Amino acid sequence: MRWDIGIDLGTQNVRVAELKRGPVLDCPAAMAFREGKMSPICAGEIAQRLIGRTCEGVSVHYPLSDGVLENNFYAERLFHWLFQRSDILKKRRHYGTIISCQPFARPVQRDALLNAAIEAGAAEAMLVRSDVASALGAGLDILSPEARLLIDIGAGKISATLFTYGRVAAYGYLPYGLNRIDERIQRITRMRSGYRIGWAAAAEIKHTLGNAMPDKAPKDIIMHMIGISMTDRLPMTFDVETQPVLDACEDVVSEIARMCLAVVDAAPEGLSADLNDVGAVLAGAGAGMTEMDRRLGQALGIPCRVADAPATCGVRGMAKIIEDPKPWAAMMQGRQTRSVWR
Ligand SMILES: Nc1ncnc2c1ncn2[C@@H]1O[C@H](COP(=O)(O)OP(=O)(O)OP(=O)(O)O)[C@@H](O)[C@H]1O
Ligand SMILES: [Mg+2]
Repeated sequence: MRWDIGIDLGTQNVRVAELKRGPVLDCPAAMAFREGKMSPICAGEIAQRLIGRTCEGVSVHYPLSDGVLENNFYAERLFHWLFQRSDILKKRRHYGTIISCQPFARPVQRDALLNAAIEAGAAEAMLVRSDVASALGAGLDILSPEARLLIDIGAGKISATLFTYGRVAAYGYLPYGLNRIDERIQRITRMRSGYRIGWAAAAEIKHTLGNAMPDKAPKDIIMHMIGISMTDRLPMTFDVETQPVLDACEDVVSEIARMCLAVVDAAPEGLSADLNDVGAVLAGAGAGMTEMDRRLGQALGIPCRVADAPATCGVRGMAKIIEDPKPWAAMMQGRQTRSVWR
């Protein structure tokens, strides 16, 4: 089977690679629907901007929640939208798609994801472990006998995978990602300052003030944001202090460090020893958080580095997999062919 399109479907973003063209699309996996209608009003960047701005009867949805499929209807609609946008798929009646999937997704969620791709128009659909795609995109030689550790820090999940000989020797994950920091920031501004802010403002605060090494982070930065005052019920400018944001980051970052440490501990001694030389590589957009590599390096006692363009490691890996899927057959998680009766 020829695989024409690879989809790195994340909790917040979806990235698409096409055969021979490489990565072609990187946008939010959001879609806005009018109540009772099957087709989205808009999708991607425009739909994401609607969050917190929708009028009655319009709502914005993402297919995944915390790294795994939450709603197969939205997944099918998103795949359909992506297939419609693709120039090469317009010319083909039969096309195959490979979709990245978290290894901790339950079988029913994997089946639903495959069904969604078939319903959306793919002749064949296959799932591949998302950590394999990220590792390939990060340039890790996971077929080598030496251990390779990939830490993927996303919006809805965080995973650590130790590879050797193209297989997984140890694996661990957190069923939440850096979006949890946004939720904490929203709660802090509401409880401590008395202002309600949207998710986009919380993410902006996280990107600006967030730091994975709170002890070393500058504490005197004050950010001015606009929020809805809970006393006056009017939009007002208020000050966001650094320390509560650092505390919110620390809650999540310390859990990431603990989880990665458990993965290294669970690995056979020889492989753990390899990591002293080869270190760990961080992928996923969350790897861009200030000092994340140093913090994890300190916690694990091994060198850690952020991959080039960490956000797009997954889709660049998908591009490699659709070009040459054979070596990764063992990492593929299922397959469905459209019935001849359809
Ligand atoms: N510089 C940064 N500092 C902190 N967080 C960041 C930074 N850049 C991106 N992020 C966060 O990274 C997350 C998005 O990561 P990514 O696009 O890899 O997730 P995803 O692929 O959609 O989700 P997942 O793979 O977890 O299902 C968001 O929470 C975003 O706020
Ligand atoms: Mg991802």
